[in-house]
Amino acid sequence: MADQWQSSMDHAVAIARRAGEVVREALLDDRAVMTKSSSVDLVTQTDQKVEQLIIQSVKEKFPTHRFIGEESVAAGESCVLTDCPTWIIDPIDGTTNFVHAFPFVAVSIGFSVNKQVEFGVVYSCLEDKMFTARRGKGAFCNGQPLEVSEQKDIQQSIVATEFGSSRAPEAVDRIFCSLKNVLSIPVHGLRGAGTAAINMCLVASGCVEAYYEIGIHVWDVAAGSLIVCEAGGVLMDVEGGEVDLMSRRIIAANSRTIAERLVREIAPFRPPRDDAPPPN
Ligand code: IPD
Repeated sequence: MADQWQSSMDHAVAIARRAGEVVREALLDDRAVMTKSSSVDLVTQTDQKVEQLIIQSVKEKFPTHRFIGEESVAAGESCVLTDCPTWIIDPIDGTTNFVHAFPFVAVSIGFSVNKQVEFGVVYSCLEDKMFTARRGKGAFCNGQPLEVSEQKDIQQSIVATEFGSSRAPEAVDRIFCSLKNVLSIPVHGLRGAGTAAINMCLVASGCVEAYYEIGIHVWDVAAGSLIVCEAGGVLMDVEGGEVDLMSRRIIAANSRTIAERLVREIAPFRPPRDDAPPPN
């Protein structure tokens, strides 16, 4: 049977590649920086330009589809996932990296129907790596199949995480508490690429056993979540149980064993949900 979403996925790959070219060109220019929720939550004109490029091109081809885009939400659009076909877009995942030319920057496009991610595309544009996954059909990097690591011993593992963009003292305390706990297990190492999407692709590629973060957004992880699962990995909430992509909390791991071990070490907190109504 023909795949109903194949043409959308083909378009996502093509437009992610085009967006990546724009990002690479912009790295050669001045990158004027603006801020959003905090002084370390950065945005540039390139984020906005790339998001518009993706949304316009999708609208022309698939006029009934909906969007959740990082910069559109920052500009006041709603962030509610319905059952309708929805493109969940982070035009530049790793904006801080982009601003500093730190070489991990991704275009991330997830596509959800009935609140289930049907395909995910993460283009790591400086590495020129195109990560793709279609639900039930596996995960790939530049066409090569991906598989998570088989390591089940957390003491033999690398764990990826990030510090996020909140500097609220309670959040910083919880982040450091988790870091101390995980480091002291002890694990082989802690890493962070500076982009949630690439961290998740590293789990899918078998380079790191797990990635966790509290404070990410749905556009950071929608595509990567499917790439991890299709590479044989698992998703879990930081307190155990099912992950909720709107909750801003995630563990993506090679196995339940590693994910459950991390649950014991992570100091949880609950940032405002992505789909929370705006404050009055
Ligand atoms: C950010 C990156 C970063 C993570 C933040 C995200 P952005 O996304 O993924 O690694 O720590 O939580 O918001 O702002 O560069 O798209």
